[in-house]
Amino acid sequence: MVVTPWEVKGDVDYDRLVKEFGTEKIDSALLKRIEKHTGEIHFMLRRNIFFSHRDMNWLLNEYEKGSKFFLYTGRAPSGPVHLGHLIPWVFAKWIQDKFGAEMWFQFPDEEKFLLKDNLSLEDTAKYTRENMLDVIALGFDPKKTHFLIDTKHAGIMYKEAVRIAKHITFSTIKASFGFTDSTNIGAIFYTAMQATPAILPSAMKKKNIPCLIPLGIDQDVHFRVARDVYPKLGYYKPAILHSKFMAGLKEGGKMSASDPMSAIYTTDTPAEAKKKINNAFSGGRDTVEEHRKLGGNPDIDVPFQYLRMLLEPDDKKLKKIYDDYKSGKMLSGEMKQICIEKLNTFLAAHQKKREEAKKLLDRFIFKE
Ligand code: TRP
Repeated sequence: MVVTPWEVKGDVDYDRLVKEFGTEKIDSALLKRIEKHTGEIHFMLRRNIFFSHRDMNWLLNEYEKGSKFFLYTGRAPSGPVHLGHLIPWVFAKWIQDKFGAEMWFQFPDEEKFLLKDNLSLEDTAKYTRENMLDVIALGFDPKKTHFLIDTKHAGIMYKEAVRIAKHITFSTIKASFGFTDSTNIGAIFYTAMQATPAILPSAMKKKNIPCLIPLGIDQDVHFRVARDVYPKLGYYKPAILHSKFMAGLKEGGKMSASDPMSAIYTTDTPAEAKKKINNAFSGGRDTVEEHRKLGGNPDIDVPFQYLRMLLEPDDKKLKKIYDDYKSGKMLSGEMKQICIEKLNTFLAAHQKKREEAKKLLDRFIFKE
């Protein structure tokens, strides 16, 4: 298994990541504590899609003492947004609503330019705009949400970034990211840019504000490196909530923007979405007779995973689908049909809001 910000390969063992990264599992005590403030538990928490954390109890202690936190997450523009990207963002929007939290959303438009061979800064600028529309479409509050674009907001970010960078050595970055002596120096510096928004609101307001970062667990490494630095600069370490990866369309592996055959994009047409789901890896048996007799395997069925992770928030409905598929009562074609309908309803609503987002874009971009 390989889990880095730029590559996820093999069967991901999430328990092992918790141990290796030194995070904590989200347990029922923590869920209860969250529920005390939110009144309900988001399905992504109930279903263990957000499964791990750092310092959540500290964050809630602060909150209970009256110290409000802000949210921070991001997206390095490198192509269109797919369903897997939406997981932490849909969840973050829920946290924003429940806690009235400000959201700082970073678009590091230099990251993939530095780390991939085939993207120009003009390409990432184009994707920045496209990706911003997807974030807005999820319903974040324009009054409480601030977009930071690295090359545009470098002027306000750079001071904090160099303060952070001064405490991180090349050997730490090399070991953490598997870089070598021939890695370009922009890639080596990049972690300082990703670490910056977690303290930027505190630096601007000249007071310490707790921060919560919902992210896919592949992004944890940047903050593992930066966590030791924040207190040296007089800031809190941010709390983090880690999510699992969304399965790709093919057997095994995660949904990946760089592999169009693995991904459903938010801009796919109903016909494209239908075709992709119909070709997706299924947990069904080879023949109908066998399937009826032995049942299917929803745990590896990709259309079922999309329902579980994003498209069917209703636990009762999801359980019925799970049970019917497992018992053989429901066939793979029927599972796919349910997924296609849910997906196309979701995409139609998202694409409508995405269009409307074009008018709102300017309100989200941070102004000094
Ligand atoms: N590196 C992330 C990506 O590749 C983008 C990002 C920037 C981010 N800041 C973040 C992700 C904070 C999670 C949390 O898309």
